Amino acid sequence: MEKAPVILAIESSCDDTSVAVLEGNKVLSNIIANQKVHEEYGGVVPELASRSHQQNILPVFTKALKTANKTLQDIGAIAYTQGPGLLGSLLVGTSFAKGLAIGLHKPLIAVNHMEAHILAHFIADANPAPPAFPFLCLTVSGGHTQIVRVNSPLNFELLGNTLDDAAGEAFDKTAKLLGLGYPGGPLIDKHAKQGNPEAFHFPHPDIKGLDFSFSGLKTSILYMLQREMQKNPKFIKENLNDICASVQKTIIDILLNTLIKAARETGISQVAIAGGVSANSELRTRLQETGEKHRWKVFIPKFEYCTDNAAMIGIAAYYKYLNNMFSDLKTKPFARMSFSK
Ligand code: KG4
Ligand code: ZN
Repeated sequence: MEKAPVILAIESSCDDTSVAVLEGNKVLSNIIANQKVHEEYGGVVPELASRSHQQNILPVFTKALKTANKTLQDIGAIAYTQGPGLLGSLLVGTSFAKGLAIGLHKPLIAVNHMEAHILAHFIADANPAPPAFPFLCLTVSGGHTQIVRVNSPLNFELLGNTLDDAAGEAFDKTAKLLGLGYPGGPLIDKHAKQGNPEAFHFPHPDIKGLDFSFSGLKTSILYMLQREMQKNPKFIKENLNDICASVQKTIIDILLNTLIKAARETGISQVAIAGGVSANSELRTRLQETGEKHRWKVFIPKFEYCTDNAAMIGIAAYYKYLNNMFSDLKTKPFARMSFSK
């Protein structure tokens, strides 16, 4: 049998610099440098992100090779995130990947970040068993909220998308309104654990089909906070856990209601989640419960493969490698990208 290729993968689409080394579908290392610089701004500042990627990429790359116990000569291909993402951030990873490819005379593989979030399920240690095709994937991140029908590792159909804010943005913007830090998702998750999800009620959007909308929720949270803070300036402080639990419940209800609709309409009962928001503890529990109720087979990836990481870029590249889908040095990064068909 042919030996599995060693793929070095680079992820730099947003504010995490990550380099991973995979042998086939096995992760040998997956190093991630988070950028603390954005915390005080309550969101990612693109120019600061690009500069931090430049500072981080070489040490992260060196550590990934060392942890994997591999040398440059062992690498069979170099994969990188082509998009979607912040253009300046993508350029750092793209340029680094191209430099390596030229220097090492190795092939390049360009990867779509959203496809990689989904394909993270196929990393050897992501799940007890990977989903079978076709399956539905709810991909929820800081920039995207999508329901995707995954027909193969190279064929994706977008069934539903957000019309405005992404689910992760709804978490992050709520956290900002509450005076919590960035990223807001994990902080809301933490406070929600001590709160009552029925304490406050927020309206659900009335959207036809399988699309999402979260901007109305953001506005109704803002108005509620302004109204209550006028009556009691300590309102947020005194009700923080309950507000977090109620907002989190509303976001999860919106996501799961549409996912149930998608499963019913497509007749597909293999259901997965992916992306940063899939790290949310309540979403993971509620998806499991919903799956039991509707007799779905549910796939929830290991925590470290939910938020941005290069191992997911490596697994997506592995499927491209097996199908000889290499890119040339002229390939450019894109802020927006659609799925492979
Ligand atoms: O996939 P990801 O790491 O980056 C993008 O591709 O955008 O997703 C980041 C998003 C952020 O909005 C962050 O607040 C959210 O994922 N997130 C969470 C949790 N952990 C990360 N949202 C809710 N609960 C969490 N535990
Ligand atoms: Zn992502």
